Amino acid sequence: MEFRNPFKPGAGHTPPYLAGRDAEREEFLRLLDQDTILENLVLTGLRGVGKTVLLESFKPLAIQKGWRWVGADLSESTSVSEDNLALRLCTDLSVVTSDIVVGIEEQPVAGFAGENRRREVRLNFETLVGLYNRTPGLASDKLKRVLEVVSSGVDKQSGRGVIFAYDEAQTLSDQAAKEQYPLSLLLDVFQSLQRKGLRMMLALTGLPTLFPKLVEARTFSERMFRVVFLESLSPAESRDAILKPIQDGACPVRLGDDVVADIIEMSGGYPYFIQFVCREIYDAVNQTTGNGELTLIPVEEIERKLDSDFFAGRWSRATDRQRELLSVVARLPNCDEEFTVQEIVEESKQGPAKSFGSSHVNQMLAYLGQQGLVFKNRHGKYSFAVPLLGRFIRRQVATSSA
Ligand SMILES: Nc1ncnc2c1ncn2[C@@H]1O[C@H](COP(=O)(O)OP(=O)(O)OP(=O)(O)O)[C@@H](O)[C@H]1O
Ligand SMILES: [Mg+2]
Repeated sequence: MEFRNPFKPGAGHTPPYLAGRDAEREEFLRLLDQDTILENLVLTGLRGVGKTVLLESFKPLAIQKGWRWVGADLSESTSVSEDNLALRLCTDLSVVTSDIVVGIEEQPVAGFAGENRRREVRLNFETLVGLYNRTPGLASDKLKRVLEVVSSGVDKQSGRGVIFAYDEAQTLSDQAAKEQYPLSLLLDVFQSLQRKGLRMMLALTGLPTLFPKLVEARTFSERMFRVVFLESLSPAESRDAILKPIQDGACPVRLGDDVVADIIEMSGGYPYFIQFVCREIYDAVNQTTGNGELTLIPVEEIERKLDSDFFAGRWSRATDRQRELLSVVARLPNCDEEFTVQEIVEESKQGPAKSFGSSHVNQMLAYLGQQGLVFKNRHGKYSFAVPLLGRFIRRQVATSSA
């Protein structure tokens, strides 16, 4: 059979080989082993660093240890209201609990007075939503009731508990103007149930804005979550990500050490970029030389393609003045780590554009933050929210001034 290009750049696409992440896996296993749930997981990191696929890889580990796994991607849901969020949880939960029978119900048979039919009551969607609607009180009381009933049902089945794995959780927001607090609801309910010893754990994934957002909604989040920040892969791990998928004897493509080194350099060890660059190189080798060897990597061509596929959309949404500001940031030697407003103000005095004042920089960074280009960490410093953005901007500046 023909060996196909194995590399898969794309949001949430399972990679041909999931490299590294041993420490993170250990951490997750540790959380699974808690007797009383004191800590929940926040898995965070820049765009394309591998949060979604890592979370997905945790699922079989949890199931193997007897947990039930409930999950969804929150980016597509419009969980703006508390009831919406509760409904979302019931919907997701019912998929893994509908096999649990919690009682027998007698139902009158239509048209036969005095005759009853016995029916098993299962923890299916209908039961959960019915329970939610019938329970008096606030949304949090209702949701707690549902989860308590589910939890005792799961216990009876000697399950280890339930994990709620939500991806893109940074999209959850309290809406003070509408008096809807779905994020706080989620935190309140889980904190309260965990205190009672219920085995329900949150595993939230999202951009670096996620954890500060949780803490802002409820300060106890600080203690409630173990934050795992995913970084780029080390050179050895990157090497595995590049070479393991093409180790197969049937694979027509071979990559030499120098090519591998170039891929690591170009990708900065960021998983999405590794997949992207490898897919391009694989095709280039396969098509142009035909003998499975590569003499020259089309670095510039691949970079240009990456720029238009990955970066250009984000860049084109920025205004001219925002681009000037970002270009100043990209000149800072520490732009790939963290930078301050003051550093930007200072650097902007070097021109070529009009310099920036600090309040203006603050304002613009807040706006760029909403657009997902930068984020503010807990120490008030800023970072790019997109990996290798600094290099991309320097390339743009170089081409436009050429
Ligand atoms: N450990 C890894 N080894 C090799 N490839 C990986 C690894 N982790 C992720 N990838 C690849 O990187 C790409 C991005 O992964 P993923 O979608 O999980 O990132 P993400 O952090 O969820 O991104 P986003 O912030 O856009 O949601 C995918 O193509 C995936 O196959
Ligand atoms: Mg993702």
